[in-house]
Amino acid sequence: MNRAMTRHIALVLGSAIAGCALAASPGQAIYETHCSVCHGHDGKGTLPGVPDFTRKNGVLSLPAAVLLQRIEHGYQGRGAPMAMPPRGGDPSLTNEQIERVLAYLRGRFGG
Ligand code: HEC
Repeated sequence: MNRAMTRHIALVLGSAIAGCALAASPGQAIYETHCSVCHGHDGKGTLPGVPDFTRKNGVLSLPAAVLLQRIEHGYQGRGAPMAMPPRGGDPSLTNEQIERVLAYLRGRFGG
């Protein structure tokens, strides 16, 4: 094997490994694509009425079943200025993807 080929193989392997590292956090990718527009990259919320995920004993401390239900079907608390849209507004988001994004949120922001 010549040097150029060795280099090529190293590059291909390198990008395969980088690809795995990205795929290791599918929850984060879903969050950034579907949720961060309202919830913010930092989880603090970008619009009035959006809860701050980083707050201690905040919404993320609710039982997972309640949160999954609210993400899947949408939710608007009494007197809240704005509703959480079902599946973040994308009906093609599967329940499995929603479980992943919730696991990501709890891992990153607590609850
Ligand atoms: C269009 C803006 C918007 C998008 C997009 C959005 N949300 Fe929300 N979300 C809200 C608002 C507003 C609330 C607060 C609703 C309330 O308290 O009445 C909320 C509340 C929540 C809550 C707390 C529910 C509770 O019990 O108070 C969770 C968890 C949540 N969103 C997760 C997500 C996830 C996960 C996504 C992406 C798949 C997402 N949201 C996308 C606006 C949005």
